This record gives sequence, C-alpha cells and structure tokens, in this order.
Amino acid sequence: MRVLFAASEAFPWMKTGGLGDVAGYLPRALQRAGARVTLALPGYADLLARLTVDLHTVTHVPCLQGYALLKEATGPDGVRLWIVDHPLFGERGGNPYVGPDGHPWPDNDLRFGLFNQVLARVVADALAPDAHFDLAHCHDWQTGLLPVYLDVEGHHLPSVFTIHNLSYQGLFPRETLTRLQLPAHYWSPEGLEFHGHFSFIKGGLVYADKLTTVSPTYAREIQTEAFGYGLAGLLRHRSADLVGILNGIDTEQWNPATDPHLPCHYDADHLDAKADCKAALQRRYGWTPDDGFLLGTVGRMVHQKGTDLLLDALPELMELPVRLVLVGSGEAALEDRALAAESEWPGRVGCYIGYDEDLAHLLEAGADAFLMPSRFEPCGLNQMYSQVYGTPPIVSHTGGLADTVVGANDATLRDGTATGFFLPSLDAAGLVTAVQAALALYQQPDAWRRLQRNGMARDFSWDRSAKEYLALYRGLG
Ligand code: ADP
Ligand code: GLC
Repeated sequence: MRVLFAASEAFPWMKTGGLGDVAGYLPRALQRAGARVTLALPGYADLLARLTVDLHTVTHVPCLQGYALLKEATGPDGVRLWIVDHPLFGERGGNPYVGPDGHPWPDNDLRFGLFNQVLARVVADALAPDAHFDLAHCHDWQTGLLPVYLDVEGHHLPSVFTIHNLSYQGLFPRETLTRLQLPAHYWSPEGLEFHGHFSFIKGGLVYADKLTTVSPTYAREIQTEAFGYGLAGLLRHRSADLVGILNGIDTEQWNPATDPHLPCHYDADHLDAKADCKAALQRRYGWTPDDGFLLGTVGRMVHQKGTDLLLDALPELMELPVRLVLVGSGEAALEDRALAAESEWPGRVGCYIGYDEDLAHLLEAGADAFLMPSRFEPCGLNQMYSQVYGTPPIVSHTGGLADTVVGANDATLRDGTATGFFLPSLDAAGLVTAVQAALALYQQPDAWRRLQRNGMARDFSWDRSAKEYLALYRGLG
C-alpha cells in the first residue's frame, strides 16, 4: 500500500497543534504496519532549518508561480519525506498560517494551492522516482485541493480527506479560483463555492473518495447544525463515506517512565515519584510546593477550548482549596484575562503564555488533574496524555473527549473503568461542579490511586489507529 500523506505541519519539524502530532506519528505507525508512506510537507524556512536528515532535490516542478523544487529525504521509521520548496514558504516570522499579528497570511490561498498543485503534478506526470501511489491521504483545508488538482490533471488517484477541525475552512474571495488557475466549472455550490466564497475544505469534502474525522462522536456531531459550521448538509449527504477514527498518542514521547522532559520518572506501580514532578512544576511557577489539589491545563486559548469558561469559573474555583497552572497562547483577550487572574490570585493561579514543549510535559506529569472544558473537540490529545500520566482529566462531554474518557460515577468507580470527570453542563457552574467531584475523590487517596491507575492502563497507541486506516485504505479499490 503506497500512501501519499499530505499535511501542512508535522512533528518534530513543524507543529502548531494536534494536526502536527498526527502527521508526525501516524505515517510512522502506518509504515510499521506495512504501508509505504511518503509524507509531503511545505518547505517552510523554519522546517528546513530543523530538518536534520539529508535532503536532496529530485525535480523542478512548474507551478502557479514559477517553479517549485521537490526535495526528498528518509525520515524516522523509513517514512519518505517530500518537501515542496518554493519562495512562498521562505522566512517570514509568525507560523505557517498566521503572521506575528495573529492575522492569516494574505497569500495563504496561493501558498497552499501551490503546494497541492505541485504534488498533483508530480504524481500525475511521475516527475519523481517511485511517484506511483495507491492513494492520497489529505488533512484539513490546507490540503483540501489535492483531490481537485489531481482531477484537473486527469489523474484518478483514490483519496481520503481527514477533518481535524471543521471550523477552519480556508475561505477566500471568488478571485481565488482564477488565482489558482482552476477551471470555472469548479465554481458552484456542488463544487468549491461556499456562500459566495472559495472554500478549500470543500475540495476535500466534495472530491475525496472517503472522509474521516478523528473520533466517532465528532463524526456524528458534524452532521448536526450545531457542530457543522454550515457544512452539516454536505456531510449528511456523504455520511456513507464518513467514519471516525480516533487518534493515538506516541507512547515513547509520552511515557512518564521514560519522558526526557521530566525531572523524575514514575509508573503505575511507583506513583509516589509523581509528587516530585508536582513539586518541580510548582517551583517552575515560582511557588513553594504544597500537597493541595493542583489543576492544570495546556492548549490553545481560543473559544473552542472553553478558556473563557475556565476564566469565568475562577472566582468560584478559588473558593476551593486548589491551585491552577496554565500553559497556552491564542486570542489576545483571553491571554490578557489569564494574566490578570495570575495577578489577582498570586501563588494560586500561574500562567505561562507561549508555546513550551518541556513545560507541557511537566504539567501533564505534575498536575493532579487536567482541565479541558472544550466547546467541541474533534479528538484532543491532552486528555489522553493526562490519563497515561496518572493525571485524571476533567472534560466536557463532546467529540473525542466523550470517546476517550470514562467519567467517574458509582458504577464506573466500582467496576474499575473510571478515568476522569465530565462537566455536567458546558458552563462555568458545570466546571466548578466537576472540579468539586474530582476534589472529593482526591481526598480519598485509595480511590484516587485507582482512578489514576485505570487511566494509566489505557492503550491509546497509534498502532490501533493505523490498523483502522489501513482497513479503510484497502476498501478504496
Ligand atoms: P488542538 O490540535 O485543537 O490544538 P490537541 O489536543 O489535539 O488540540 O493537540 C494540541 C497539541 O499541542 C498537544 O500535543 C499539546 O500538548 C500541544 N500544545 C498546545 N499548546 C501548547 C503550548 N502552549 N505549549 C506546548 N504544547 C502545546
Ligand atoms: C484538531 C482538533 C483536535 C485534534 C487535532 C488532531 O486541531 O482541534 O481535537 O486532536 O486536530 O486531530
């Protein structure tokens, strides 16, 4: 099975969120399961600087703007890397999608359009050695046009499109159609048009042979108006081709017994050492370590993640014997509110604004419980990390959170399946109630230990997901 796996970011070379984790690890798991995977990425200057493997130029490809270079290397687990190098991906600060001011790059249509066009041309005209594939697997709007450009090239390669987040759609003005040299017939509500806009994500949703998303619950939710971001009708129309396959986590990077980011190690049989991580985490925030209930959260500070709900809940949470540490960045107004909370409750609320891989690992290990009050969550990775780190998650009942956490109640505590807590309602009051329930269990050390161990025993490995993707690929025919 030869797979062209196209994505706009992949760990460890470029990551802004969970998509980077998936594109970093799933190709490797597929390769271990017997597929031959080529991972194609845009050649951002920062990514090229971080690549430690030898890269060589395979071919020049004429494209929307001059020529792109296709470069190749062998990555971890034998995954072949294809890098599309073009001046549009040159040094410019910010991240792959937005500038330093937080606004999307104005030429994103051209940048990601060109990335897809180049890949389609290489495949259609076999411009590189071993450019024959059994399928293309695309991810999110940035690669939504790959099935479209394959169509333009007249090359029918079966394709799979994975939705990691339906709220990011890659919408541009109508002129994008001509800017990307796409024939006029794609401009229709059955094609790439979305309420007068040009939609990248519709390229995947309409033209890919199979659609997947990253949890079974999210696959159902996006077919409803509440979660469909205007695309629920299209997704219902394609429901026979749509499945949810849960993400995994990398069990080497995320293992408290070996994690190189941690000052101390522990496992389910030696949980006492987790206290050392907790003390280290509190010291990182400049606090004197104590044994109180320590809540933590890591992630993008945006509406999706319910950061505002958490901040709204703070006055009531601070009535309880708890401390809270946050790591994240995102909307300026939420960052400001988090910093203001740190000043209002010094020594009780600690805030790090920014991206810090080390601190994210230390927080997963050092916190007692992990907060994730997301409004929607296609899969979510942190709640899985926190379970295997013995840090029970407190989460909303949606998407991948509903599929990966088993909420504590009398029955699940008795039968030994409970791993975390669900908010009874998606608001500040629901969050406070869930934290109270967690705190009450934390005050019963034996019961808490059992909860921790239940989570630590869960298998969230990528190998399980890879098997499901391979079965899907085989069905493409
Ligand atoms: P999303 O992709 O919606 O942001 P996920 O839970 O799927 O959410 O994945 C987020 C990933 O990014 C996780 O690996 C998480 O640890 C990481 N992450 C998010 N924000 C930060 C941050 N500020 N510092 C370090 N890692 C972060
Ligand atoms: C998206 C989603 C997140 C998911 C990640 C990887 O960013 O918001 O829930 O885990 O993609 O699939």
